[in-house]
Amino acid sequence: MTQYIIRGGKPLNGTVTISGAKNAAVAILPATLLVNGTCRIENVPDISDVHLLLEILDRMGAEIRRLSPNTLEISCVHVRDSEASDTLVRRIRASYYLIGAQLGRFGHARVALPGGCNFGARPIDQHIKGFEAIGADVTLSNGFVCATAPEEGLTGGRVNLDVVSVGATMNIMIGAVLANGTTIIENAAKEPHIVDLANFLNAMGAKVSGAGTDTIKVRGVRSLHGGSYSIIPDQIEAGTYMAAVAAVGGNVLIQNVIPKHMDCISAKLREMGAKVTEYDDAIRVQRTGILRRANVKTLPYPGFPTDMQPQIAVCMSLASGVSVITESIYDTRFGYCAELNRMGAAIKVETKVAVITGVEQLHGCTVHACDLRAGAAMVIAGLAADGTTVVEEIEYIERGYENIISKLEGLGASIKRVETPSRRSVHAAG
Ligand code: EPU
Repeated sequence: MTQYIIRGGKPLNGTVTISGAKNAAVAILPATLLVNGTCRIENVPDISDVHLLLEILDRMGAEIRRLSPNTLEISCVHVRDSEASDTLVRRIRASYYLIGAQLGRFGHARVALPGGCNFGARPIDQHIKGFEAIGADVTLSNGFVCATAPEEGLTGGRVNLDVVSVGATMNIMIGAVLANGTTIIENAAKEPHIVDLANFLNAMGAKVSGAGTDTIKVRGVRSLHGGSYSIIPDQIEAGTYMAAVAAVGGNVLIQNVIPKHMDCISAKLREMGAKVTEYDDAIRVQRTGILRRANVKTLPYPGFPTDMQPQIAVCMSLASGVSVITESIYDTRFGYCAELNRMGAAIKVETKVAVITGVEQLHGCTVHACDLRAGAAMVIAGLAADGTTVVEEIEYIERGYENIISKLEGLGASIKRVETPSRRSVHAAG
């Protein structure tokens, strides 16, 4: 088991550079299966979710060269028409993109149902609805999704999503790129990584338009060619450092961000009393006084992201007055509140609502990361708390945050990573 040991109470100061977006990378990497050539991909985050997907592709026969820690060359030209390792697939939610990618590339896919952070039921019915709309026959059996295109190939088609789903939107885009006809996705998700996937596919010769709006059009092309692409900065990693400065105090320049993607988070932190200044590709966050209470309702982009919900809860725990968070994306995403309460926070949870009464100080103790973003929240709480905080099960955190220790140390934090004898294994995330 690996732990982070944090000695809290030191303000954060300096500059931190944001890595490439996890949730863009985990879709773009499987999408390289569709490309008949070599993809050079820059700004790939060096995180364990990416390592896992690269291992899956490698075992399928992809040729992968790491040109630098964040630049990869991938050629899937010689990939065999084979199943992805189900043991690996079950360890990461984003492996569902292999269904769209294999269906598009080979005309059929058989992929184990994905794992993922436990936020309640996380069905993939909208992915299936989309694959059926573009002509595939889809069945579920023995924990596997089997999708088959008709002999004449995928036809394309129109799908109106019943819920705004990031994964379904991206998976249908991936599946439809090489279809014979045109696909229209209505009620599509609009997150920055949806636009990034479309830009990647278009850079390789696809014809995707409308990404970033709620109607996406994919005109099928015969083949995709190799090319170069650079992944956008990670909105949630940037937001996590912004929330950390707001909770802990200090003055930090967060660089390699797209400030527009941060609008909702910047607005909320300003409302709570932090000073947020935007530059072309950077954001400065300063916090000296006491934070004020606020309310948050999580929503699809451009609303407040569910993936920032635990981090903002730490800010609210240290704000004056009573704040309310309403989680509207997932059934249960408040498991971490019990851990924060152990540190002295005062949070009451009723199903999808958390009522947070601000306290003057959090106190260090041993807590565990229940999932990726909950883990990030524990780190922020530990940095803000007095005394020493031990965060357990940090493997979750390292699925999505590149070099978190050195980035925080660069801001003056006292945090170290220690290995202790193994106790529990970490389940799938994403
Ligand atoms: N939903 C359905 N049916 C579907 C798909 C989704 O009912 O077929 C529901 C879900 O149960 C949920 C809502 O629709 O209530 C939204 O789910 P979505 O499909 O958008 O989520 P996801 O694709 O499973 C991705 C990210 C999550 C992030 C969500 C929301 C990846 C690998 N995961 O999940 O990221 O929370 O979008 O933005 O991209 C994280 O990075 O920590 C993380 C959990």
